[in-house]
Amino acid sequence: MSHAEEHEGTRRDFLYYATAGAGVVATGAAVWPLVNQMNPSADVQALSSIFVDISGVAVGTQLTVNFLGKPVFIRHRTQEEIDAARAVDLSELIDQNAENPNLPAGAPATDENRAIAGKEEWLIMTGVCTHLGCVPLGNGAGDFGGWFCPCHGSHYDTAGRIRRGPAPQNLHIPVVSFVDDTTIQLG
Ligand code: FES
Repeated sequence: MSHAEEHEGTRRDFLYYATAGAGVVATGAAVWPLVNQMNPSADVQALSSIFVDISGVAVGTQLTVNFLGKPVFIRHRTQEEIDAARAVDLSELIDQNAENPNLPAGAPATDENRAIAGKEEWLIMTGVCTHLGCVPLGNGAGDFGGWFCPCHGSHYDTAGRIRRGPAPQNLHIPVVSFVDDTTIQLG
């Protein structure tokens, strides 16, 4: 797939709606300008959620959305990616913390604790390198088939766990849940 096609696919898939405070609903690209214009206070931002329609995210692709000013990667993993992540022994990991706020603090960084429970094909992570904050490249990038941060060479595996390079932690998981089979809620 060419870069242009990838870009087009991302734009087509960029359909979601947001709620912030009481009943603000908007669609697609209008969401963030609207929220920015409203300049919500920090406590409103902290409470806001977005709902993302993931029905168009094909196996082996990733949708990236913005949430609270950060990219969130929504990866529809292949069985090979899942199998590779589950074959890794915890002792091989640089960061053994799942970095998943949906679980009790300190939960181990197994693939089961990183992917969505019961829907292990979905891996949803904040797309910010834990070294100095660049946005890692996806779609199988890096030596571990997951994500690669070109800023200083951090390699993440197919569960988004740091495997080589200067990043100290696994890519963080946001607060996320499934609302129905094709809709997730962030926040
Ligand atoms: S910011 Fe990603 S490796 Fe430095």
